[in-house]
Amino acid sequence: MIKVVSESKTFLSDKVELFTESVIRDMTRQATLYGAVNLAQGFPDFPAPAEIKLAAQEAIAADINQYAITWGSKNLRNAVAKHMLEWQRIVVDPETQITVCCGSTEAMISTLLATCNQGDEIIVFEPFYENYGPDAILSGAKPRFVKLRPPSSEDGEWTFDERELRAAFHSATKAIILNTPNNPTGKVFTRTELEAIRDLCVEFNVLAITDEIYEHILYDGTQHISIASLDGMQERTVTINGMSKTFSVTGWRVGWAVAPPAITNAIRKVHDFLTVGAPAPLQEAGAVALGMQPIYYRTLAEGYRKRRDRLIPALTDAGFRCFRPRGAYYVMTDIGAFGFANDIEFTKYLVKEIGVAAVPGSSFYRDPKDGAQQVRFAFCKKDETLDEAAKRLRELRK
Ligand SMILES: Cc1ncc(COP(=O)(O)O)c(C=O)c1O
Repeated sequence: MIKVVSESKTFLSDKVELFTESVIRDMTRQATLYGAVNLAQGFPDFPAPAEIKLAAQEAIAADINQYAITWGSKNLRNAVAKHMLEWQRIVVDPETQITVCCGSTEAMISTLLATCNQGDEIIVFEPFYENYGPDAILSGAKPRFVKLRPPSSEDGEWTFDERELRAAFHSATKAIILNTPNNPTGKVFTRTELEAIRDLCVEFNVLAITDEIYEHILYDGTQHISIASLDGMQERTVTINGMSKTFSVTGWRVGWAVAPPAITNAIRKVHDFLTVGAPAPLQEAGAVALGMQPIYYRTLAEGYRKRRDRLIPALTDAGFRCFRPRGAYYVMTDIGAFGFANDIEFTKYLVKEIGVAAVPGSSFYRDPKDGAQQVRFAFCKKDETLDEAAKRLRELRK
């Protein structure tokens, strides 16, 4: 018989014990299990633009089927640089400042791994996109949260307290993670807010890591401003973006990080050993996609504006208090009127008994209590999907 030498050894790392699987992705599985309408995960249920699909098919047919350059195909990097110049007046060298990754998800974790040491503090606005929590754990960074406060009326804005933000900055602060337009709140940071953040980043020598994946999904005349476009910021900003949301291809896994050359070098090294590269033919299609005319982006935003204005009245009718988003494609709601103990109980009831999947608010907060009366709905769905959800949600009034 073999003698076991170290019985107490666990096969799991300490890090992986510190976070759970994604609540958002789990809700999608529950939606499938219960046959519910999935307003949980942020992926469109309508087709991607025909010309982009064709570009991908043509790239495969032309045998662009081997590894691309590790940090991204030249065509896509050139297209990203052109896009940043045209939309944000930011000058970027595609040879030294862009790393194409497997989605902005990989761009974010590669950036954190490339820039953070164990114990470095990173500031994160809360509620936050749930990936940032595990990203921080995996990279050894210590998140410090600053509250975004919900508006008092449906039409108001989520705001932060500048004194609270200043108090979060100190000598151990390495970076601040920004996400504008924001998931889950729909907040679009204003120039004044971004300037206040810029001033603190410069004063405390802090890096801004900005997730701008919803840059073209804007409503009510709001304008997207990249913090890298502000004076003094380009040399201390990593701008993260990707194809998923702008071109309705969340399954393609193409994103990028744009940063000063020294930081780009570090991101490229991490990226290379994590994934080698993003899908080569889909990068070529990405270059075509980024070449689309401005009308494409206007139509995209207008389509989502209509979907937002279709879902919010249905939610309000059903008893939710909605916070109207100014960008991205989610509505954060308050569920206080339903009298449930917490958001988890409520979303379980919603998916099983009502047949609609949504995301419990607590998954966007460090302390689950803070999100216990909030639930997020995604409206990147066909009209029929939203109407079916509305029909089912009416049952809640009973
Ligand atoms: C704020 C934010 N960043 C990143 C992502 C993921 O982007 P990608 O598909 O490019 O990895 C999402 C997806 O929901 C998101 O909401």
